[in-house]
Amino acid sequence: MFQVYIILSYILINTFQTNLCSASLLLVDHKNPCRAYGNASVYDITNLVKEWPITLQGPGFGAGEYNYWWSCAGKTQYCEDIDTAVCQQRIDGSPVRFNTGNVSPQLWFGLFNGAAFQTNLTWDIMYPNLQSDPKLIDGTGIRVTVVHFIVDPNIEKPLFTMNGENKYTEYSITVRGKCIGQPAVNQTTFVQGYCDPQTGQVVPAHH
Ligand SMILES: *[C@@H]1O[C@H](CO)[C@@H](O)[C@H](O)[C@H]1NC(C)=O
Ligand SMILES: *[C@@H]1O[C@H](CO)[C@@H](O)[C@H](O)[C@H]1NC(C)=O
Ligand SMILES: *[C@@H]1O[C@H](CO)[C@@H](O)[C@H](O)[C@H]1NC(C)=O
Repeated sequence: MFQVYIILSYILINTFQTNLCSASLLLVDHKNPCRAYGNASVYDITNLVKEWPITLQGPGFGAGEYNYWWSCAGKTQYCEDIDTAVCQQRIDGSPVRFNTGNVSPQLWFGLFNGAAFQTNLTWDIMYPNLQSDPKLIDGTGIRVTVVHFIVDPNIEKPLFTMNGENKYTEYSITVRGKCIGQPAVNQTTFVQGYCDPQTGQVVPAHH
């Protein structure tokens, strides 16, 4: 448990550093795990892709290439546990699949106040594993995936990068794009909402 605590602290510190210490916890929607709220703002990645999961390839720790399947609402279709947010499997045909992060304990870190007016906004979602038996030392319960979101006005369509695995089973993915579900304002109507990745339109926020 102590070790896990140290690992999580390390990741939290990294998360805060990449966000230049400006991140707060956001409030995850009770019905839609792909959506979270700041103060009068909404982050919604439901339509980041037409069909979940997102399939990515990238390195694991040490040698080896892996497939990763990420689904913000769970049901990756690859890991058995439907609460899995990210599922990992070696490309070379090994049948073992790892749950590298759960949906239900997810934490969103972002700008709580004024996000809709921020240029080049960034935020993170952290998916830690649910922990069961602390006697298991095979990696069960200690995996965690962090997804970094970077709003970049020069990238038309959402771009996904699997950054791979850091020491001690921390995985990371980066999402870049002009419209990746971030809080946004319609410059004509001044209606506030989020930028829908499928249409590029600002969709008004309804709680
Ligand atoms: C939320 O926004 C309101 C209005 O701007 C502000 O008064 C309040 O302090 C904010 N809440 C937090 C927790 O920052
Ligand atoms: C936002 O990001 C773009 C692309 O990376 C960059 O050209 C621009 O200078 C950034 N704007 C601000 C205000 O940082
Ligand atoms: C803003 O609202 C106007 C009027 O409803 C609409 O035509 C336009 O497409 C909207 N723009 C965005 C980026 O949502």
